[in-house]
This record gives sequence, C-alpha cells and structure tokens, in this order.
Amino acid sequence: DTGYLFYDQGYGNTGSCESQITYLDGDNGILRHRGYPIEQLAEQSEFVETAYLVIYGELPSPEQRKRFGTMLRENAAIDTQMMRIFDGFPRGAPPMGMLTSIVSSLAAYYPHLATNNFEKDLANFDLTAAMAISKIRTIVAGIYRYRHGLPFNYPKDVPFCDNFLHLMFSEPYKEYAAIPEVTRALNLILLLHADHEQNCSTSTVRMVGSSGANLFTSLAAGICALSGPLHGGANTAVMQMLQAIHDEGDDGTRFIAAAKSGSKANRLMGFGHAVYRNYDPRARIIGHACDVVLNKLGKTDPLLDIAKRLEHSALNDEYFLSRKLYPNVDFYSGIIMRALGIPTELFTTMFAIGRSPGWIANWKEVASNPKGRIYRPRQVYVGPVKRDYVPIGKRG
Ligand code: SDX
Repeated sequence: DTGYLFYDQGYGNTGSCESQITYLDGDNGILRHRGYPIEQLAEQSEFVETAYLVIYGELPSPEQRKRFGTMLRENAAIDTQMMRIFDGFPRGAPPMGMLTSIVSSLAAYYPHLATNNFEKDLANFDLTAAMAISKIRTIVAGIYRYRHGLPFNYPKDVPFCDNFLHLMFSEPYKEYAAIPEVTRALNLILLLHADHEQNCSTSTVRMVGSSGANLFTSLAAGICALSGPLHGGANTAVMQMLQAIHDEGDDGTRFIAAAKSGSKANRLMGFGHAVYRNYDPRARIIGHACDVVLNKLGKTDPLLDIAKRLEHSALNDEYFLSRKLYPNVDFYSGIIMRALGIPTELFTTMFAIGRSPGWIANWKEVASNPKGRIYRPRQVYVGPVKRDYVPIGKRG
C-alpha cells in the first residue's frame, strides 16, 4: 500500500534497519537489551544500571556505575531561567507538550553540548546523555509542581528515583520520605520502558538525529511522537478506560464489544502491539508486580480487578485471539504508577523518562556512525498520473 519502503542506505554496520541495542521476537514475546533478557534485568537490575547498559552496550563496573550515578546527580538541576518557559504555559497545558518544549530548550541553554559530532569528543556525549536523562526527570517533576501551583523543589544528593519522588512530592514543611517498595516499583517501571527497538518515537529520534540535529532536539521530537494515544499516550487512555468501566458499573462487556467494532476510537487500550503477536513480556512482569506493590503498600485498587477481568475476557474472545492481541506494556503500568501517587496526567511523561536511555542510545548509533547518512525513506506513489495544467477560466 502507500507505506514507506525502508531500504538500506549504506549505513554499514548500522544500516537504516540495523541496530545493536534491543532484540525483539514478536512471535515468542522475547525482549533483550544488548543480549540480556528483560526478565533478568527486571529481577536483578535497576533503572540507572539498565540505562547505562542500553547506552554503552555493557553492564557497568562498580566504578562506571558510581560515575554515571554521580553525573546524573550533578546534572539534576535545571537553569532557573527555564522556569520562565513553564510560566509561558497555562496551568492545564498538556504535560507532554510542556515536556517537548522545555527539553528542546536544553539546546539553547547548553549550546556546547548541542552538537552532533562526537568523533571529536566522546566525553561531551557522556555529559550530554547524563544531562538529558537527569533533566527530563527533573522537568517532569517541575511540570507536576507547576500544574498544581506548588513551589519547585531542588534536587538532592540521592539516587535517581528517590530524587524524582523528592522533586515531585516534598513540601517546604515536609520532606518526602520514600519507602523502599515505592522506589523499587518506580525503578521497575522506568527500567521496563528503557528501550523497545524501532517503535514510533525511537524511529523518530533516529530520523531526526540522522539530519545532524543535536540530542536535545532529537529527544524533543521523540517526545512528540510518544505523546500519541496509540503509543505512549496509551497508559493514560488505559486508566481512563478502566475508570469509565468502574464508574459505569460495567463489567467490561460493553467496552469489549465496542473494541471489536474495529474503529480506532474504541480500541481496547493497552491491548495489541505492532510487533508482539504474543504477550508483551513487560506486561507480564508489570501485571505480576501490581499485586506485589499494592500488597506492600497496603493498598487495593478496584481498577486492578477490572483490568484482570478485562484481560481474562479478551483472552477468551475469538476476536482478540484470532488477531493475536495481548496486553502490552501500557495495560498495567498505570495501576502501579497510581499506587505510587503519580497522577494520571503524568503517566506518558513517565514513559518519556524511562525511554530516554533508549532514545539516547539510538541517537548515538546514528550520530556516531562515520558512514551514516540522512534517513530518506522512499514511498510507493499511488497519486494521479502526469496531467497538464488547466487555467482557472477553463475549469468547471
Ligand atoms: C506502545 O512499537 C512499540 O514498541 C511501542 C511500545 C514501546 O515500548 O515503544 O511497545 C509502546 O506504544 C504499546 C502500544 C500502546 N497502544 C495501545 O495500547 C493502543 C491500543 N492498541 C492498538 O491501537 C494497536 O494494537 C497498536 C497501535 C498498538 C498496533 O496497531 P497495529 O499493529 O497497526 O495493528 P492493526 O491496526 O493492524 O490491527 C490489526 C487488527 C485490526 O483489526 P482488523 O482490521 O484485522 O479487523 O487488530 C485490531 C485492528 O482493528 N486491533 C484492535 C486493537 N489493536 C488492534 N482491536 C481492538 N483493540 C485493540 N487494542
């Protein structure tokens, strides 16, 4: 049909469709980062370590992990002038719109890092990468504070996820005291979003980076792509769907029936995937973690029961089975984020924090490839054949 035809544009080891970062087997529900199964990383690693693995290709030594963590802490604050960009938005502005604008401004505040040429100085890349991950996290927390009319918090000298929770929830009169279960659950959520092959937003980052655009600008483009409801916006849409089922006292039957109508507007959000024709392994991990996290926090969530019922109904329905539609990463992630106190409005920005290492790794693959060329996919033209111009006076 009129889809793009990707063809090898002579990128050598990382051709337009080649990468060394993430392996997906959609038929068997396999996901590996630099060869490590996502199940093992989820069980034994944490977000910052997995971010290092995704970006640099190897699990860090203790010294490398310490240095990376220090760079993240040292670059957690944002320029105070950037606060004026927040003020340029109405309080109710879409968080992803704010995030893409403020991340894009990093290129203006750090022009010496807004380059695309790391053949000269890879050390610049290390700082730029750490800065991007750390500041995206701080900006997301700032968006929450701004939307709620709360004073911004300054980062502390604490681990990445603890700092995020502090930036989000500490008050002038009371420091946020993160409990281990919460930071562990947040690490898991971010880790599971770290990278995912050539999804819409990552392909966007590669495309923009291939033009010579700097990392901050390329990340802003990826954030735009992620905001769509069929992509990163789905985690928010899932919670809205579950809440509607709860509020209507529906048992999900009406939603399942509507989802089978085939219209994109009624799709079962959090279900189906462009690659997986089996369970998304991340959905399985998060689904199991929901019970654990809620139990440890001494919380219950009626939406979890609804989600489980919905999953059971769909997976026993010929429509979903015949199309190999299974839960994806977004189906359960919102329930855990809600249990951690993160408001639904920020769910997609949380996805952006988690995906930032994957975007950075993919951008680096493109930006540092000596044989790299601009992405320029071709298309199959199906428009009108050649015809001659008709002056307006002679048109019907
Ligand atoms: C993410 O690419 C990635 O890796 C993305 C991601 C990542 O980590 O970056 O995994 C994150 O984006 C996960 C997906 C989040 N989106 C949603 O949950 C939105 C709901 N899902 C769908 O919109 C859909 O499944 C997509 C967009 C995810 C995938 O769409 P495809 O591959 O284009 O599937 P399709 O449109 O070709 O659908 C095939 C059939 C169609 O029916 P028929 O025309 O054959 O009759 O399945 C139906 C679709 O109507 N279908 C659904 C459905 N998803 C597909 N029907 C009901 N509910 C759904 N969710």
